[in-house]
Amino acid sequence: MTDRLVSDDAEQPEGLIRAAELLRDGRLVAFGTETVYGLGADATNPLAVARIFEAKNRPRFNPLISHFPGADDAFRHVVATPLARRLAEYFWPGPLTLVLKRRDDGDICDLAAAGLPTAAVRVPAQNTALALLRAVGRPVAAPSANPSGAVSPSDAGHVMDGLAGRIDAVLDTGPCAVGVESTILDLSGDTPRLLRPGGVTVEDIEAVIGPVNRHHEAPEPNAPVAPGMLTSHYAPGLPVVLDVQSVQSDDALLAFGPPLNGARVTWNLSETCRLDEAASRLFAGLRYLDQQGTQAGCKRIVVQPIPETGLGLAIRDRLGRAAAPRPAADACQDAPSTQEHHVA
Ligand code: TXA
Ligand code: MG
Repeated sequence: MTDRLVSDDAEQPEGLIRAAELLRDGRLVAFGTETVYGLGADATNPLAVARIFEAKNRPRFNPLISHFPGADDAFRHVVATPLARRLAEYFWPGPLTLVLKRRDDGDICDLAAAGLPTAAVRVPAQNTALALLRAVGRPVAAPSANPSGAVSPSDAGHVMDGLAGRIDAVLDTGPCAVGVESTILDLSGDTPRLLRPGGVTVEDIEAVIGPVNRHHEAPEPNAPVAPGMLTSHYAPGLPVVLDVQSVQSDDALLAFGPPLNGARVTWNLSETCRLDEAASRLFAGLRYLDQQGTQAGCKRIVVQPIPETGLGLAIRDRLGRAAAPRPAADACQDAPSTQEHHVA
């Protein structure tokens, strides 16, 4: 059952209060921003974030944008560079998303950032959305509120068409003013890089901070537009082997369901075979096995079979990338080193 909540922060706060309660409780609430409706979840709660991918039927764990009521709130979780502060002053609230390094003391969970050392943050220009974000008091991860592969929704009816019954509520704030997604700018490297054109033009950005690398305009054949698309971006140091039926004594085991016997180190994604729980424990498990397994002299991380349905697809996709050979150095200059991956 998906509740349709209506709210106006001044006159009708009930819908908004309910939406904030649901989000704090780990539930999914779609809400209007100035660009498109986002499918929100508490970005500090990996189980809540796993439900986003489940509801959208996304076959991959793409990194998500975290939403905040103000720049100071955002910069508590990512490193604010001088350029980021300048852009925030000019364009926030507004349709600009900044990719910045995650802070060690930030609370955006690994699943929301897809294990990257960076995170995308933005402050939407929609009053009810801002009031909602203030009421939640935590980063809210929100991809567009449509099933994977469908067009982005620009009113609450579109959200219901695609996701009714799959999410807890939609906060109806009418049609979105902009209608296209936010511009995404990566400020985590040496030069600002455009990852996605959107509601703020590159010309306007360049007027504030100078030249931007418009990488997306002339992509190399098969080049990734966003770092999350690199094949082995999330590879741990130990090799990963999928779908094992037995383990060796020097294996680190990523179990699913009743664990196989005999591994030196084990992390269970879900003893009860729940895929949402498995998704929420995936990145922590990879880190744990990589660190503890290496210390214990393990030679590889082996993974028990995970079903190829629902969230299992995204989990398998991510593990497949972890198992893939790393691309040549020049093909992944923006990818973090394995070490950075661990400390992120
Ligand atoms: O306007 C918008 O941005 C909407 C509203 C709801 O805010 N959101 C939205 O989210 O369009 P989504 O998930 O559909 O698109 C997010 C994009 C993805 O392509 C993802 O790869 C990229 O942002 N992204 C997120 N975090 C990233 C990171 N750390 N590095 C690079 N790209 C990132
Ligand atoms: Mg989208």
